[in-house]
Amino acid sequence: MWALTPLSEEQREIQRVAREFARQEIAPHSHEWDRDAYFDPSLPRKLGELGFLGMMIPEKYDGLGLDTLTYLVALEEIATVDASVAVMLSVHNSLPTQMILRWGSTEQKTRFLRPMARGELLGAFALSEPEAGSDAASLRCQAVRDGDHWVLNGTKAWVSSGPYAGVIIAMARTDQPNERRGARGISAFIVTPDLPGFHVGKKENKMGLRASPTVQLSFDNLRVPATNLLGQEGMGFIYSMQSLDNGRLGISAQAIGIAEAALRHSAAYAAERRQFRKPIKEFEAIQFKLADMATRVAASRALLHMSATAKDRGEQITQFGSMSKLLASETAMWVTTQAIQIFGGYGYVKDYPIERLFRDAKVTEIYEGTSEIQRIVIARELYSR
Ligand code: CAA
Repeated sequence: MWALTPLSEEQREIQRVAREFARQEIAPHSHEWDRDAYFDPSLPRKLGELGFLGMMIPEKYDGLGLDTLTYLVALEEIATVDASVAVMLSVHNSLPTQMILRWGSTEQKTRFLRPMARGELLGAFALSEPEAGSDAASLRCQAVRDGDHWVLNGTKAWVSSGPYAGVIIAMARTDQPNERRGARGISAFIVTPDLPGFHVGKKENKMGLRASPTVQLSFDNLRVPATNLLGQEGMGFIYSMQSLDNGRLGISAQAIGIAEAALRHSAAYAAERRQFRKPIKEFEAIQFKLADMATRVAASRALLHMSATAKDRGEQITQFGSMSKLLASETAMWVTTQAIQIFGGYGYVKDYPIERLFRDAKVTEIYEGTSEIQRIVIARELYSR
């Protein structure tokens, strides 16, 4: 894999471990997991044993304490083989673990980060609702203080890994209907599935990423201990936006993995498939497609790695996060579309991996902010400096 800056010895070793794990433990099953929309519940433990669920968690909490670039390099390797497994890794590593690390109390960090790093507790993120997607600040899930608890009522939607999550960072309104405070009226709560009133609802029957379970969660007088409020009351939306800046880097790596896989399969197929008495890679029409695919993948990766190193230098990466996700997700969709064209009819059937890559690519243009939202964020940032 080409990288903007040469990868260090440690980064290459972690990349190799991710590649081996993906080839041995995931690749043999990906086709069936996709067909059956099956999530293997042993995966979090296996990934946890290798440290992949605590990649950016400090070593004192049993994580690997790695930088963002190293995490994204490993994530891309997994996504090259299975984008469903990659989204589980991305959400867990980018959102709930980082939110607890950044805004959690000492007690919350001690209680949750170790089992999360070891893969004993899988993390999820619950911001969206059936009526609040792109306009996330319009969410309606309500939290009301009752002594040393908060009581939550509402429905969260599109929660990746929801049925298997042991820790969900859920956003709910803590302002009251007669004094709404917009984005500042939303707080973040650490929700665990053992709490009374927690229900896993409808599982979505999706076009792609079928091995990643996506569900609604309903909170029916869910009693959350007051000690599970994350950070400051009223800051949940801001925390979500800051965390999505980072989450969007993870989705970029996932999208680049999908595109890289489509590129590799296409190059191999074009060398082997013969029409008009020669391999189709000898036709300029195919060469031009492969060249454009490779160029867009390399450009997406360069922007992602630049964004990751900016983040690791402590810079604010709101604009880079959105740019990376926009470019990588549109690249994944475009590259997988070209791949189907190169494969012809074989790209359109389930015997070959291309149609799964095409289906998996689409959602990268939708979740963690649609391409339209990324463009809004990028344009706004032009005027905020
Ligand atoms: N960093 C820090 N603060 C931020 C911020 C950022 N990136 N973005 C916004 N804020 C702050 C603003 O400064 C503002 O603060 P003040 O109260 O001090 O003014 C506050 O948040 C409200 O911001 P806006 O006025 O910009 O809010 P908005 O309602 O106009 O929305 C938006 C902005 C960018 C459109 C936002 O709603 C958004 O990103 N929408 C998309 C939501 C999304 O990505 N959802 C994905 C859910 S996760 C998922 O996909 C599932 C999964 O599991 C993979």
